[in-house]
Amino acid sequence: MVIGFVGAGKVAKSFGKYLAKNEISVRGYYSRSLSSAQEAAELTNSVAFDSVKNLIKECELVFITTPDDAIEEVCNHIAKDVGFKKGQIVAHMSGAASSNILKSARDQECFTYSIHPLQAFADVNKAVEDLNKTPFGIEGDEGKLNDVINLIQKCGNEYFIISKEDKVLYHAAACIVSNYLVTLMDVGVSFMKAVGIDEKKGFEALYPLVSGSLQNVRKLGAASALTGPIARGDLKTVEHHLEEIENKLPELLKIYSVLGKATVDLASKEKIKDIKTIEKMKNIWKEG
Ligand SMILES: NC(=O)c1ccc[n+]([C@@H]2O[C@H](COP(=O)([O-])OP(=O)(O)OC[C@H]3O[C@@H](n4cnc5c(N)ncnc54)[C@H](OP(=O)(O)O)[C@@H]3O)[C@@H](O)[C@H]2O)c1
Repeated sequence: MVIGFVGAGKVAKSFGKYLAKNEISVRGYYSRSLSSAQEAAELTNSVAFDSVKNLIKECELVFITTPDDAIEEVCNHIAKDVGFKKGQIVAHMSGAASSNILKSARDQECFTYSIHPLQAFADVNKAVEDLNKTPFGIEGDEGKLNDVINLIQKCGNEYFIISKEDKVLYHAAACIVSNYLVTLMDVGVSFMKAVGIDEKKGFEALYPLVSGSLQNVRKLGAASALTGPIARGDLKTVEHHLEEIENKLPELLKIYSVLGKATVDLASKEKIKDIKTIEKMKNIWKEG
């Protein structure tokens, strides 16, 4: 399968390099700026196209890896000004959007897919390494679904098939655990800073707690892995937290309370047995 990318950003570079590592050759890249295409081509030993027309002509599978907001427009532009080839596979790698945004390619008798790597691509080399253990969420036309699955399987990755209707919620799952964890670290560091511990030290001090919790939750599941005052039913401790946060960091009271409430629900599954404690715990939160 001859593969090309339109949009030579982090994902296209990393996934292209990963494909090449798995002996699946990448034909090349077209991007808004030639320099991005050249950089990606160098990484993958492929070609930097200065015209999207030539890339479309040469490839059987075209990934449109621009930012989400540009995918549909880029697809429409190719369909109108260049024309896709009948039977070509056209895919994007967005988590949130379905393959419907590639309708203009489907109208030209192409097979369209969203092929989403469940991973955060911050740095190309790290992303290529992490891709080994990254599952892919695949959604799209029946016609060439097996070809898409074969590609992912050839790299040795897990995959799951997802419907168009479920894509948004599926993507929200990825965002809440990945992006919000980063936000949560930042909130934790703000608490440390408020008691005079500098940002770097605060982060380093909190990090082992986070990685330990991740290991526990993986090993035991969420309900069993939960520790801390809510899991113990220590009402007074939680009330003291709320008072202090209200006094010193009132802007963070809401986030503490929203997550606290959800944690009570989780704790009530296995950790807190006493119904009265659960009821009290449910009613102490202050959401600002
Ligand atoms: N980043 C992640 O963690 C992640 C994870 C999973 C999936 N994804 C998905 O992967 C896709 C790409 O994301 P990314 O993080 O790689 O984005 P990115 O690093 O911002 O790269 C986007 C690339 O698209 C190019 N581009 C923008 N408009 C274009 C146009 N009109 N025509 C041609 N090229 C254009 C940019 O061009 P120039 O550099 O040439 O200016 C840039 O190189 C998105 O659909 C995203 O949802 C991202």
